[in-house]
Amino acid sequence: MRRWVSFLLVLVIGLGLVTWVGSLLVHRTTSAWFEKDLSLRAALAVRGAAHQALVFHWSKDQAQELQRLLAEITHDERIMAAAACTSELKPLARTKDFPDQIDCQALGLNVRPAADNPASSWTSWKGVETLPGGRVHVSAIPVIDGDRALGFVVLVQDLSFVERREAKMRQYLLFAFGFLALAASAVTIIAARLSWRGWMSELRTFLRGGAPRPEFQPILRDVRELVDRIVGERESDREGGAWTPQRLKQTLNRYLHGERVVVLANRKPYIHEKSGNGGEIAVHHPASGLVTALEPVMRACSGTWIAHGSGSADRERSDRLGRIRVPPGEESYLIRRVWLTQEEEKGYYYGFSNEGLWPLCHTVHARPVFRSEDWKQYKAVNQKFAEVLCQEVEQEDPIVLVQDYHFALAPQLIRERLPRATVIMFWHIPCPNSQQFGICPWRKELLEGMLGASILGFHTQFDCNNFIDSVDRFLESRIDREQNAVVQHGRNTLVRPYPISLEWPARWAKNAPPVEQCRAKVFRELNLEPDTLLGVGVDRLDYTKGVEERLLAVERLLERFPVFRGRFAFAQLAAPSRTAIERYRQLNQTIERVAARINERFGQGNYRPVILLRSHHEPPTVFRYYRAADLCYVSSLHDGMNLVAKEFVAAREDERGVLVLSQFTGAARELTEALIVNPYDLDEASSALAAALGMSIDEQCDRMRAMRAFVAEFNVYRWAGRMLVDAARLRNRERLTGRLRDHVSVAAGSP
Ligand code: G6P
Repeated sequence: MRRWVSFLLVLVIGLGLVTWVGSLLVHRTTSAWFEKDLSLRAALAVRGAAHQALVFHWSKDQAQELQRLLAEITHDERIMAAAACTSELKPLARTKDFPDQIDCQALGLNVRPAADNPASSWTSWKGVETLPGGRVHVSAIPVIDGDRALGFVVLVQDLSFVERREAKMRQYLLFAFGFLALAASAVTIIAARLSWRGWMSELRTFLRGGAPRPEFQPILRDVRELVDRIVGERESDREGGAWTPQRLKQTLNRYLHGERVVVLANRKPYIHEKSGNGGEIAVHHPASGLVTALEPVMRACSGTWIAHGSGSADRERSDRLGRIRVPPGEESYLIRRVWLTQEEEKGYYYGFSNEGLWPLCHTVHARPVFRSEDWKQYKAVNQKFAEVLCQEVEQEDPIVLVQDYHFALAPQLIRERLPRATVIMFWHIPCPNSQQFGICPWRKELLEGMLGASILGFHTQFDCNNFIDSVDRFLESRIDREQNAVVQHGRNTLVRPYPISLEWPARWAKNAPPVEQCRAKVFRELNLEPDTLLGVGVDRLDYTKGVEERLLAVERLLERFPVFRGRFAFAQLAAPSRTAIERYRQLNQTIERVAARINERFGQGNYRPVILLRSHHEPPTVFRYYRAADLCYVSSLHDGMNLVAKEFVAAREDERGVLVLSQFTGAARELTEALIVNPYDLDEASSALAAALGMSIDEQCDRMRAMRAFVAEFNVYRWAGRMLVDAARLRNRERLTGRLRDHVSVAAGSP
C-alpha cells in the first residue's frame, strides 16, 4: 500500500512539474506567434488595398475621408480601433472607440526616430498595452508617399482571444501529458512485473537445482555464498557460550573449510635439550607468553608451526627436513625447525630483534641499538623463514599466522610469493608511538613488511592507534579510519585489537595437585615456617618485567610495616633469558645484589625475605608456586599483555590469593579486580602488598571469582577464533570482489 502511495505521489509531483514547464513554454511560444500574427495583420490592413486611398486623402488633408477609411479597416473582427497621426505627431483622424490612453505623441517617437529625418528611416512599431478593458495589441505603421512621410496609422487589436486560446492549449497539454504519463507508467509497471517474475522464477528454478540462464550464473553463485555465510553466522551466534577447542575447530571448519593453519614464530613450544653429563635429552617448554597462548590453539587447529631450531638436541629429534610431530604422545600438529647459523642468530635474534626492536617497543628507558650488520641478518632470516613457509604450505591461499617482532618483514615476503595467502600478523609486545618508532633507521621497511598482512593484531586499541600513526607519518598510504585499516597499493590491512589470553581451563592447572598439597610441597622446598605469608613473582629475567622494582617494593614493605618482618617471604622464579646480551647479564647481577642486600637487612636465622630461584622452571613447578602463594606480584614496567597475571588467576580454583598488578601491562585493562599499582612508586606498591596480605578471605574470593570469570570467557580460543573469523570474512570478501572484477572485465570484453 505504502509503495503505491509513494508511486502516486511521485507521479503527481512529476506530472505537475512537467505541466508547469510545458505551460510556460506554451505561453511563450503562442504569445510570440500571435503577436507576430497581429503585427502582420495590421501591416496588411494599412499597406494593402486601403493604402492608395489613405495616401490620397491624407495628402489632401481630408480628415473625414480618412476617418471613413479607418472605420472600414476596423471592420476586421479583431481590429478594435484605428487612428491617423500626422508627421508632427498630432491626431488627424480616429474611429469612435479609439482609447484615449494611446496618444500620437508617445507612439510617434517610436515610429519617427528623430525630427526632420528622411521618410526612409521611419519604422513600424508594435507593443502590448494594458487598458481598463484588458490587454490590447498596438501597431503604429508609417504612411509614406514617395520620399515624404505623411504620418502613421495606429491600429488597436483585441488580445483577449489569445489568452482564451492559450488557456485551451494548456488544458489540452495537461490532458495529453497526464495521459502519456499514465500510459508510460502502466507500460513500465507491466514490463517490470513481467521481467521480475521471469527473473524470480529463474532464480527459484536454480535454487531448486534447475538449470539457470547463463547470464544469471554469477549473480546466483554470489547469492548462494551470501546465504551460506549468513546461515553460518546465525548458527555461530546461536552456539554462543564459551569458546572451547571444539568450538575453535568448528569455526575453522565452517569459515575456513577446515584449512590447516601455518604458524611462523621464532620460539616453539617443545625444545629438545641435552642435559647433564650423560647427554640425556629432555623436552623444555620455554617461558614465553607467545608459546603459552598459541600452543593450545595449534592443538585445536592442527597444522604446522615453523620456528627456530634453537635446542641443543633439536636436530637429533627431527627428521631430515627438521620436522617433528607434537605434542609428544598425542601428536596433532607438526613443528618444522629452521636451522640458523651462529652469525644469523647473533644478528637477527640477539641483535636486531632483542637489542633493537625489543627496547624500541618497551618504554623502559633502555636504549635501542641498531646495527646495519644486524639488519642484514634480520632481513636474510625473514627471507629464509618465508621460503621455508612456502615449502610447507599445500595450497596457494594458505592461512598463515606470523608471530611477533622477529618477523616484521615476513608478511610482505610471503605476500610476494603467495599473493592469495591470508596472512594474520600478531604483535605480542607493545607498539611504540610514531616518535619512538621513528628512531629506527629501517622504520619504513618494517612498516611496509608488516602491511603485507591481511590482518594486523595488537593487544590493545592504543597499540593499533600507535601503529596507524606511524604509518600515517612515514608511509605514502591511505588510512581508512572507519574500518581501522591501511590501504596501500590497492590492498587493505585491517588493524585490530585482539587481547591475548590463556587456554581455559588451563591444562597445567587442571593437572596440578590440590592447593594444600602444592603449598605444603613449596613450603618444604623453601624451608618456610607454616605461618609464613608467601608472595611469588614469575618471569624471564628481563629488564621490562620490573623485577628490581618488585624486590625494592618488598624491601619498602618490610621497612614500613615491621609486622611482616620474619613473616613474609617473596619467592622470585626467574628464568635466565637472552644472556648473550650485556644488558641482561647486568640485570642478573643487579637482582642478585638487591636480593642479597634485602636478605642481609631483614633476614634472621633461617628466615630470608627474598628467595631468588634463578633457573628455568617447567610449567608444573610454576603452577605449584602460583597455588602455594598468598599473593602474586606482576610489576612489569611495560608489557603488551602479561600472561603471568592470567596464569596466576587460572591456577587459583580455590578463589584465594591476591594479584598485585602493574598498571603498565595490557592485563591491567582486563583484570580490574587486581590491586593495580605503579611499580615505580614503591610506597604505593608496598601499600598494595600490605593490603593484599591483610585482605579478608571473602574479598579475595570476590576478586578472584570475577577475574576467573573474565579469563574463562575471554580465553585464547576466543582470541584465535575472532582473528580467524575476521580473516575468513576478509577472504570471502576478497574472493567475491575478485570474482566481481572478473565479471566486469568479461562483460567489458577485456582480456
Ligand atoms: C616475549 C615475546 C615472545 C618471546 C618471549 C620470550 O613474550 O613476545 O616472542 O618468545 O618474550 O623471549 P625469547 O627471546 O626467549 O623467545
